[in-house]
Amino acid sequence: MCGIIGYIGPQEATPIVLDGLKRLEYRGYDSAGIATLSQGKVNISRAEGKLINLEKNLQAHPLFGQTGIGHTRWATHGRPSEINAHPHNAGGFVVVHNGIIENYLALKSRLREQGHTFSSDTDTEIIAHLVEEHFKACGDFEAAVRMALGEVRGAYAVAILCDKEPDRLIAAKLGSPLVVGQGQGEYFVASDIPAMLSHTKEMIFLEDGELVVFTKQSMAITTLDGTPVEKTPKTITWSPVMAEKDGYRHFMLKEIHEQPRAIADTIAGRIREEQAEVFLEDLGLEDDFLCALDRIYIIACGTSWHAALVGKFLLEKHARIPVEVDIASEFRYRNPLVTEQTLTLVISQSGETADTLAALREAHGKGGKVLAICNVVESSIARESDGVIYTHAGPEIGVASTKAFTTQLVALYLFTLYIGRLRGNLDQETRRGMLDALVSLPRKVEECLELDAQIEEIAHGLMHVHDFLYLGRGNQYPIALEGALKLKEISYIHAEGYPAGEMKHGPIALIDEQLPVVVIAPHNDTMDKVAANMEEVQARGGRVVAVTDKVATGLADKAETVLVVPPIVDDLMPVLTSIPMQLLAYHIAVLKGTDVDQPRNLAKSVTVE
Ligand code: AGP
Repeated sequence: MCGIIGYIGPQEATPIVLDGLKRLEYRGYDSAGIATLSQGKVNISRAEGKLINLEKNLQAHPLFGQTGIGHTRWATHGRPSEINAHPHNAGGFVVVHNGIIENYLALKSRLREQGHTFSSDTDTEIIAHLVEEHFKACGDFEAAVRMALGEVRGAYAVAILCDKEPDRLIAAKLGSPLVVGQGQGEYFVASDIPAMLSHTKEMIFLEDGELVVFTKQSMAITTLDGTPVEKTPKTITWSPVMAEKDGYRHFMLKEIHEQPRAIADTIAGRIREEQAEVFLEDLGLEDDFLCALDRIYIIACGTSWHAALVGKFLLEKHARIPVEVDIASEFRYRNPLVTEQTLTLVISQSGETADTLAALREAHGKGGKVLAICNVVESSIARESDGVIYTHAGPEIGVASTKAFTTQLVALYLFTLYIGRLRGNLDQETRRGMLDALVSLPRKVEECLELDAQIEEIAHGLMHVHDFLYLGRGNQYPIALEGALKLKEISYIHAEGYPAGEMKHGPIALIDEQLPVVVIAPHNDTMDKVAANMEEVQARGGRVVAVTDKVATGLADKAETVLVVPPIVDDLMPVLTSIPMQLLAYHIAVLKGTDVDQPRNLAKSVTVE
């Protein structure tokens, strides 16, 4: 939620900051703003709405200077407006902030008593005033920032400029992500890697409670109390084009089509063919510990939670360990039964989701071990976990998660193979069969993408409805949930995902000629039962869109439309059936003219509770 960026170096700051904001816009797009320092003066431009509005302002009134900060906002305190847009300025101290200052009301009233007047409804503005107030007493920018940050409670990633010491840029982090980019004689700081990727691949990941002071020639990282911290930059392997649309109309469409590559990359280097074994390079957990586990919790939010639900099927089936799946925001408040024999598996694309991070800390606090499935290298969740299985999806920019989801399913499958073998539940022959299926997956995903034209066609007939029902059974129930979530997020059509067997216990009352029911019915043990559900929908006039595979027969007369994916082992079928879910939501959203990559009210990473 919210993206921040800062630049200091020999180049003009505005184009660099603006370009960075474009790549951070997925984090929030209620308003945007930029501040630069030129000849000892701070210049600020802000605009309500998307970044394009700020760009227009800057075309009419350019901002010059070689030091700058920028912000793209997802509103928490104060409605989206120009007045509430960052940067916020108090007496020449200018702040951009991602996070929430929890004690801002108390600080605001104290500052009011000290004579400060406020021009916004935000929590952020108090930081600028606090720094101004402390500067009056100490006369030193850096010391004033340290004192101000020492007083705030909550979460922040901030970048701060001041006209009194125009050769410095200060940034700090507590609870919100912040990465430093080290260029040749220039420095960048931003909420996320892609914002700086076209300038440098050398990144330093700040920890909570760290503060960095940049000048054009130097950078010094310390803790908030001033203790120096030594950090070595890490070279990022993502390339700048991975964060471009690359000719596609939307990032989401590009990311859907990238799935064969993303899945192949997630598998690559992790299979030892001869022994039919899986190798997980950053697992960080002893085999003895994995053998002695009493249970696994899988914790996540949103789409990643849907992946977790599929993971339960895989792990219980092949590793024979009890698995409980929980939504991160629920787990952390229910005193979960974590012991030293418990593994908590957290799943997060961004690695920065506040509730998932807090759940990880809850598990650690109770003495449990944590393994993460994560897409963003060196993200907070990846760093704080005992081990990581990285998905190699590359940067996911579209707010609706697609390639991150299918690669999470692949990571879960790999982990299942690993732990299933360790615990003696998967013999070599079974593993070989499972690995052969896995290797065939990218090609089969490619085949699913060929459904694009058929799905675009049916989207025309479905775009005007107000509600959708998605049904699936077993490991396809999470895919029904995921299909419904994709549709809601980007087309704003109400949709519900249900276990098909539950239809008769309530949702059947909704069925009439207006209601499309997407039924996921691949050839497996429960196909006949799901086919019976399709007949029940048809008998009540409902419109069935069936998703099935080539092997299933006898479904054609039970559906208005049948979307056929290639056959594959049941454990991997959720990957294939996800693809038509993604394409259907995408095409309906495009026809409705919504903002596919940046749907209303949403942000890519939810870094506040
Ligand atoms: C998915 O389309 C969503 N935008 C959202 O549900 C997302 O999956 C969720 O916020 C979790 O994010 P994470 O994987 O980065 O933790």
